[in-house]
Amino acid sequence: MAFTIAICSQKGGVAKTTTTLSLAGALAESGRRTLAVDLDPQGNLTLGLGFQPRRFQHTLADVLLNAVDASAVIVPSTVEGLHLLPAGKPLQLAERYLPSRPHYQHTLKNALHPQNADYDYILLDCPPSLSVLTANALVAAGLALLLTQAEYFSAYALKPMLQTVQAVRERHNPSLVYRILLTMFRRRNRAHRIIRGRLEATFGSGLCRTVIETDTKLREAAIAGMPITHFASNSRSAGQYRDLAQELVAYVEKESVQPAA
Ligand SMILES: Nc1ncnc2c1ncn2[C@@H]1O[C@H](COP(=O)(O)OP(=O)(O)OP(=O)(O)O)[C@@H](O)[C@H]1O
Ligand SMILES: [Mg+2]
Repeated sequence: MAFTIAICSQKGGVAKTTTTLSLAGALAESGRRTLAVDLDPQGNLTLGLGFQPRRFQHTLADVLLNAVDASAVIVPSTVEGLHLLPAGKPLQLAERYLPSRPHYQHTLKNALHPQNADYDYILLDCPPSLSVLTANALVAAGLALLLTQAEYFSAYALKPMLQTVQAVRERHNPSLVYRILLTMFRRRNRAHRIIRGRLEATFGSGLCRTVIETDTKLREAAIAGMPITHFASNSRSAGQYRDLAQELVAYVEKESVQPAA
């Protein structure tokens, strides 16, 4: 049974796609069958795995809007054990047309249900908004990984995100939990250290122990169309994303052996 993680933030450019790619690489490398789902009409995750969104006859938009079977759209990536459910521009239509349908927030969850048997982890790369697509991701997920940079405005943007998580938990998905991940951290930057301290004080264990520091190798990996774990296996950020994978896997595996309270 797959465990689903939604990688989200309504703020743009905080490393959602980079984290989805890198975490997916680290999970696949550790032998876990992983599906990465591109929920952003920009198609950055699709590009980041080396595919041109235009080359696909069907994409996630067909799965959500036209009831095309997800298994007919999923493609293997060049990384062993890592598959992609690609996106493209038509996904914009989902924002417009899904809300007129009954129980539209459950569309992604229902569409991915058959995939639960085929994967250990499903990662959802959300667009930078609290949109219909992000709501679908939060309904489908067991864990919301909320990303923030150590910048005041980015940390401030966590508040509406947390309210959305809370609303989804109350209305649709009572087992949804969240973790906050600090990205693009610079140890030598005093403001970054102060914000990290505040996040630790406010969120305690809700903040991931792993912190992702800035690393230009991550930009190069995206251009090369592969996860950092496979592009620069010995780089600092590859190690940090492996730590993140271990931290999340430890959480997921501990939860699954505990009886429900
Ligand atoms: N740790 C990092 N160090 C340096 N650069 C990074 C790091 N993480 C991400 N980047 C770069 O920052 C830019 C934004 O990252 P990314 O596209 O992953 O963010 P995003 O949150 O998915 O953006 P969007 O909101 O547009 O979907 C990219 O150029 C990426 O290569
Ligand atoms: Mg993105």
